Amino acid sequence: MKILRTVKDLKEFTLSLKNEGKTVGLVPTMGALHAGHISLVDRAVADNDATIVSVFVNPTQFNNPADLATYPRNEQADFELLEKANATAVFAPSVEEIYPEGESEQTHVFDLGSVAEVMEGKFRPGHFQGVAQIVSKLFRMVEPTYAYFGEKDFQQVAVIRRMAMTEGIDINIVSCPIKREDDGLAMSSRNVRLTESQRATAPGIYAALKYSLEYSQAHSVAATHDTVVERINALPKCEVEYFSIVDGITLQPIEEWTDSEYIVGCITVYCGDVRLIDNITYRK
Ligand code: PAJ
Repeated sequence: MKILRTVKDLKEFTLSLKNEGKTVGLVPTMGALHAGHISLVDRAVADNDATIVSVFVNPTQFNNPADLATYPRNEQADFELLEKANATAVFAPSVEEIYPEGESEQTHVFDLGSVAEVMEGKFRPGHFQGVAQIVSKLFRMVEPTYAYFGEKDFQQVAVIRRMAMTEGIDINIVSCPIKREDDGLAMSSRNVRLTESQRATAPGIYAALKYSLEYSQAHSVAATHDTVVERINALPKCEVEYFSIVDGITLQPIEEWTDSEYIVGCITVYCGDVRLIDNITYRK
């Protein structure tokens, strides 16, 4: 597996792959890799001749400096996992390499539309602008055939599709299912920050979402919303930031189960000071 540190090396390497007629899959990550990330890499390896994984903790998407400071990093372990997963190359640049001189101050404002205004967009101001900034750069540097994203970050996939459309970037965006621990907790790099007792209660988030699937059959959208929030807030040290039951395409809230053919419930929960996100599909 090749380890690339500079944009120049990345571009040269991807150009050589394309000159050999190879298809290229891109998997953007912020490292601290787990089986959820690796499921994206596996899919990319299966679909493409070559797979490039980026490992870059992108400072411009962190609206909370404490979250950036405590974000887990473990480059050596990441590289070993990627090597095992048969990635062709890893792109692991420095912040200066990606954002030379003040570029992180973001001069270009992306048109992300209404999909970016709700949920994470509302609670993490500037977050999606930062995501669009880094992902558009990676798309332009690599020009992959396919790029892979996880449905755990359900809204992120919609925002990236919108960004690619408004920026005129013609790349196939593939979304991949959520990988969970055996107890149901959605895998996340932030899970390592949970204390033992928080780790023991955190599976209650998915348990409440799963319970609500059946509950929703006989109850209104509002009642389903409330039961999920009540159940999770009853867990020790857990507090729901938002739970939104939305149309899976527009991401706008729905009021009745008949409002849409594709309905997803997206949740963010603080477990102590660790912010966890998850979602469940009610209808598709
Ligand atoms: P990160 O949180 O490292 O996630 C990288 C990719 O892995 C994302 O597409 C995310 O949705 C996916 N992923 C994370 N946990 C997953 C799980 N349990 N199951 C399936 N997929 C999972 O998302 C980002 O980084 C950044 O915002 C990024 C897109 C790299 C831009 O900086």
